[in-house]
Amino acid sequence: MPVSTVVIKSKDEIALLREAGRLNAEVRAALREAVAPGVTGRDLDMLAKDEIAKRGAQPTFVGYGPGGRPPYPGAICYSVNDNLVHGIPNDRALREGDIVSIDLGVTYKGYVSDAAFTCGVGKVAAEAEDLMKITEASLWAGIEQARPGNYLGDISAAIGRWGEDAGYGIIQEYGGHGVGRDMHEPPHVANFGRPGVGYKLKAGMVLALEPMFALGRHETEEMADHWTVRMRDGSLSAHFEETIAILDDGPEVLTRIR
Ligand code: MF3
Ligand code: CO
Repeated sequence: MPVSTVVIKSKDEIALLREAGRLNAEVRAALREAVAPGVTGRDLDMLAKDEIAKRGAQPTFVGYGPGGRPPYPGAICYSVNDNLVHGIPNDRALREGDIVSIDLGVTYKGYVSDAAFTCGVGKVAAEAEDLMKITEASLWAGIEQARPGNYLGDISAAIGRWGEDAGYGIIQEYGGHGVGRDMHEPPHVANFGRPGVGYKLKAGMVLALEPMFALGRHETEEMADHWTVRMRDGSLSAHFEETIAILDDGPEVLTRIR
């Protein structure tokens, strides 16, 4: 979509997005606490659906199906080890040493919040810890660049530099996006790029930033379920995401409890 269709949100809309974001943070905290050996994706998905309903909100991902895809069945995306994103919750029990990305969309009063984290199950390998730490650090470096007058390329470059410096595979096919009444609004936010190029950032933009890195090569493939994206070489991958608003004085992270 052309960048000219970027939606600038009013103060009132940002207030609603802030509420959707807070609920997202609360539900994510419950999910994070529930991650343990023996727990399944289906357990976590049921927990998410419950926690969302309790708050009078809706699971954004349920039924999502752009471009003829089968409607997405879960409230969360649940992607273990070499599964990168969009994994469908299943009945396999988590094992000590796995790393799992949990992605959650919460819609409240018609406004969407989209956020994800990756965490270890029990004790994980040092290289998996590093991958998670660096992927998350790149997200915060990207957020730091999200201020009026900067460019979209400043965000992308700040994220990508972390992956590059670590020698990780930097995923090309997926990235961040605008968020609002729709989960996916323009612009696309690449996780690599050059500073000072692209769309000029303005107050009122709301973006989901979502770096994804892998220990091995960057190539991904979609599995037969038409959703799950995995690393072609089977390497471990990590994914973190927050929804942020660009305000006059800089970024505000909406998907956190403040
Ligand atoms: N954060 C993910 C994204 O922006 C959410 C995918 S939702 C699903 O792609 F419904 F497609 F699973
Ligand atoms: Co997203």
